[in-house]
Amino acid sequence: MNNDVSAERDWLEHPKTIEIQRYLKDNLQPRRFVHVLSVRDTAVDLARRYSADLQKLNFAALLHDCAKWMSAEELFKSAAHFGLHLDVIERANPSILHARIGAELAAKRFGIDHPEILSAIRLHTTGSGVMPLIDRILYVADFAEPQRTYKEADIVHKLAYQDLNRAVLEVSRYKIEQLLTKGKAIHPNTIDAYNAALRKTCGAG
Ligand SMILES: [Fe+2]
Ligand SMILES: [Fe+2]
Repeated sequence: MNNDVSAERDWLEHPKTIEIQRYLKDNLQPRRFVHVLSVRDTAVDLARRYSADLQKLNFAALLHDCAKWMSAEELFKSAAHFGLHLDVIERANPSILHARIGAELAAKRFGIDHPEILSAIRLHTTGSGVMPLIDRILYVADFAEPQRTYKEADIVHKLAYQDLNRAVLEVSRYKIEQLLTKGKAIHPNTIDAYNAALRKTCGAG
């Protein structure tokens, strides 16, 4: 067995990986748990493609929806518990809070202290104007993992292996279109993600 495969097996079987997976299985809906494992597999595969840190992507992907089981009331309660200041869009759409609360749980419950992992979890729903490689991979993997049923997932999944920045652009564009269609507020981070990806891919904006 070569060292890479051996190292990969080590962190897949790492006690923290096992502990997190047990928590997710106990707390998430079965469908959500399957989604999370699929995001992890997609994110780790993209990490290989782009020479990103596999272990960081493993933990970021496994934990990205760890607060997804919470109701709006529980999300608000957790935000108060962790001392988070909420903006007006988060107050109106508490479901997006699962990303920030997830990062808090990752740090405080699971002892994940690496800022890159926590940032990727925190920004996986909205994206942002500054997205390092790990953030971009998780953002795209969450949208395009093979269990997703919308047709854009397949398109973005293929695109992700050719041009990650274009994949980020497509994800943010699709999310903005969906929010506009539903008449929902758009978080400024989502606009920033779109503008930054547009600049990177077309030199525009
Ligand atoms: Fe999520
Ligand atoms: Fe997700």
